[in-house]
Amino acid sequence: MRVPFLAGNWKMYKTVAEAVEFVRSLKGALAGVQGVEVAVCPPFTALHAVARELEDSNIVLGAQNMYWEEEGAYTGEISPVMLKETGCRYVILGHSERRQYFGERDEDVNAKVKAALKHGLVPIVCVGERLEEREAGDTEKIVGTQVRRSLAGLSGTELARLVVAYEPVWAIGTGRTASPEDAQEVNAFIRRVLAGMGGEEAARQVRIQYGGSVKPENAADLLGQPDIDGALVGGASLKVESFAAIVRAALRV
Ligand code: PGA
Repeated sequence: MRVPFLAGNWKMYKTVAEAVEFVRSLKGALAGVQGVEVAVCPPFTALHAVARELEDSNIVLGAQNMYWEEEGAYTGEISPVMLKETGCRYVILGHSERRQYFGERDEDVNAKVKAALKHGLVPIVCVGERLEEREAGDTEKIVGTQVRRSLAGLSGTELARLVVAYEPVWAIGTGRTASPEDAQEVNAFIRRVLAGMGGEEAARQVRIQYGGSVKPENAADLLGQPDIDGALVGGASLKVESFAAIVRAALRV
């Protein structure tokens, strides 16, 4: 049985003070909630303070990116060791904004995934097609390639531990959500690809989220799909009310 996993991707939003105030209030809103796993992924600058605030809570911490080396002359980068030290359990890797604006390729994502696993961080690996690729009927080709390359060289046990987030690029921050059926179809396809890579058991265990304009109004329908094991939430995770409502929707399905 896969425990639903809801993660808030804050992107480049919230100062340290805003982040601490937010999680204080989120803790209250989610007190006593069981049967789902909830993570927040603040900017690097807020990780330490948020980790402290989350110590006695049922919410865990994730980062939004990292570099694959442990240390070195890589100005502006953050290492897996540093993320571990702040108390991160998760790290988002290969988000489409990183691919699009910062030139991340599947090979980079692959190196990061391996480094994260080596240091005991659970990667949330993002994949997804662009609008023109979907319209050309290339969704499976694009997503399949991203999955195979980003997760190349991992054992079945490693694959079983990580999280994949299917995030169609055209649905991110646009208010345009994939229909529950379309999202289910791609998530099921990703699970089949993973079965081919790491075996049926690994594919049964791996959690595959959907991301892209998830809101309280559409969360239950998306999360009710058999291969959608949670959501990676951007915009709607920045307000306590809407993020808590999405978490509660996961409990109802
Ligand atoms: P969105 O972002 O919910 O604002 O569409 C999702 C994401 O980019 O992870």
